[in-house]
Amino acid sequence: MPKISNKGKSMPESPIRKLVPFSEIAKNKGIKVYHLNIGQPDIKTPEVALNAIKNIDLEVLEYSHSAGFESYRRKLSAYYQKQGLPINFEDIIITTGGSEALLFAMGCTMDIDDEIIIPEPFYANYNGFSTASGVKVVPVMSGIENGFALPPISAFEKLITPKTKAILICNPSNPTGYLYSKDEIFQLAEIVKKHDLFLIADEVYREFIYDGDVHFSVMNVPGIEQNAIMIDSVSKRYSMCGARIGCIVSKNKEVMGAAMKFAQARLSPPTFAQIASEAAIDTPQSYFDDVITEYKGRRDTLITELNKIEGVMVATPKGAFYCIARLPVKNADHFAQWLLETFEYNGETVMVAPAAGFYSTPNVGLNEIRIAYVLKKENLIKSCVILKEALKVYKD
Ligand SMILES: Cc1ncc(COP(=O)(O)O)c(C=O)c1O
Repeated sequence: MPKISNKGKSMPESPIRKLVPFSEIAKNKGIKVYHLNIGQPDIKTPEVALNAIKNIDLEVLEYSHSAGFESYRRKLSAYYQKQGLPINFEDIIITTGGSEALLFAMGCTMDIDDEIIIPEPFYANYNGFSTASGVKVVPVMSGIENGFALPPISAFEKLITPKTKAILICNPSNPTGYLYSKDEIFQLAEIVKKHDLFLIADEVYREFIYDGDVHFSVMNVPGIEQNAIMIDSVSKRYSMCGARIGCIVSKNKEVMGAAMKFAQARLSPPTFAQIASEAAIDTPQSYFDDVITEYKGRRDTLITELNKIEGVMVATPKGAFYCIARLPVKNADHFAQWLLETFEYNGETVMVAPAAGFYSTPNVGLNEIRIAYVLKKENLIKSCVILKEALKVYKD
């Protein structure tokens, strides 16, 4: 039999989805499973976006331009400019989700065996994108004790080698909910300038910021226009995960020229979804006000309830809709599987994502889980009761 590639063998499985078979078994037994494992919001997609595709009058569902519809890119640029980001439509290429934008960013900036420094824990699929791109992830540790703030710049500098090409951050972060301050972004800007690196910022959760804090984008730092690459997506902003639309943004013409060649190779982003995404830009501010109030309420509920459980440690997220919780267990992977396979409380259980898969350093985060607070408050409260009862009886 022909053999699959080593790359195929080394692709990591998703810590978010790997327990799905166990949740299916639990559901088949009639157990209700609360999904805290995946960032699939239950928030409604804006009507303007759905209406735009409902009665669409098309005779041919054509390819679009490889960079995406120009009308969409222009409208997106106006959206960013309204937020104070100096982004023109030529600085934007529409992609099939933020996921493809991340792959393009790696493809444009790194060769096989080049290194990318990423504060960990990080969005687990960065491991997958790096493996697919033949790039080595070099993690720099951030800690739950200080809320997963930016590690000291000296820690980054120690890791820089001739192979280092980029630093990748997620702001605000999935999985920690940490929001980098303006000062921290400036510190990163200094280091990428000094060592001539790219600074790739995954800003797909930009709109989800709580407590009056303000998001500061890498596109707003003077002097790193040639270093900065921003990744964006409609998936979370408009609860349009299934649209599969994102974008890569940079002022660096060489980067955008290379990204365009990757974009041409895959022909074009999805046509229907671009129509919906373009229309979504007209979503009224009241939609976001309501959504952010809802997420803030969920965050507060979740953190309050988690703090009631003995032995659980959690850093309060400042943005996005995730948190990392440290549990009084040795192996959260085993605990998460046991929750689905063996445990139930009044016919219900919870599915969480073991956090080890959000680290690339081996044997780190073994007693941590990632929770997505994408459920209604009453379900978050029930989920925390289930976790509390489970921890009372669970044996490592
Ligand atoms: C941090 C982060 N970046 C990128 C993505 C990919 O998003 P998309 O659905 O746009 O591919 C996700 C999805 O969960 C994410 O959490």
